[in-house]
Amino acid sequence: MTFNTLLLDIKDGIATITVNRPKALNALNPEVVGELGQAVQEISENKEVRVLILTGAGDKAFVAGADIAAMSQMTPLQAKHFSWAGHEVMFALEALEIPVIAAVNGFALGGGTEIAMSCDFIYASEKAKFGQPEINLGIIPGFGGTQRLPRLVGKGWAKEMVLTGEMISAQQAKELGLVNKVFPPETLMDEVLKTAKLLAAKGRASLRAAKQAMNRGFDVDLRNACAMEVDAFAVCFTSPDAKEGLTAFLEKRKPDLSGEI
Ligand code: CAA
Repeated sequence: MTFNTLLLDIKDGIATITVNRPKALNALNPEVVGELGQAVQEISENKEVRVLILTGAGDKAFVAGADIAAMSQMTPLQAKHFSWAGHEVMFALEALEIPVIAAVNGFALGGGTEIAMSCDFIYASEKAKFGQPEINLGIIPGFGGTQRLPRLVGKGWAKEMVLTGEMISAQQAKELGLVNKVFPPETLMDEVLKTAKLLAAKGRASLRAAKQAMNRGFDVDLRNACAMEVDAFAVCFTSPDAKEGLTAFLEKRKPDLSGEI
């Protein structure tokens, strides 16, 4: 499938979606949101893809938020549809069975921080900036910022960011636990690819089980969350990878974790 606002590249089991509107700092208008949904769906159906990287075109922005020009024309009902459509994309990213890495190469504001938070983890360039500046536009985050940000950095910092609308640096975002690793801009994609290759060599079934157990368990009390882990742990044993991984260790050789299920 080809897209107007995205680039989708698939190579050696690693898919890369690049939001491609650099002149508008990769802002998310309804077309981008729709195409992101289609691209994520396409990736979910392609069993060759083992890892997804999400990034932005150009050297300035990852995604500078929802498209302000488009939002300025929206009725309340259209704004509601837009917000729902954005939420569906965020949930679809979280529901993908494969790991998703956000490669934040510049501004990640509003919808940009929100989409990065829906990835499994974030690697950022030293010049990246994060923030939820919607308050300065007389609105609030609409793609999950009021909910995912407090879950990731705690209520106090989330409130400070959402209520002041101030940006934070990549280093600050790392200190808050929003970002895993920060790299010089010129090495960011190499480092993301290095981790993507590492993940691509893991078993699909165990990656899925681990991701789902953590995502689903996060919002549930500990006892029920652990019950989810028990089930996910058991499901791993339906994959040939478990037999291969456990046996390979005992036979002192490298496992081939390319089995399915
Ligand atoms: N929507 C639409 N266009 C945008 C945009 C956005 N979110 N962000 C930047 N642009 C456009 C600018 O209008 C400008 O276009 P023109 O060249 O046609 O004038 C172009 O991108 C370059 O931007 P700037 O000239 O502003 O670049 P800068 O270096 O001076 O500033 C910036 C960069 C600080 C990121 C600034 O562009 C900015 O503040 N952007 C808006 C960020 C924002 O408020 N994001 C939140 C949006 S609301 C949201 O996301 C709601 C939600 O959760 C659903």
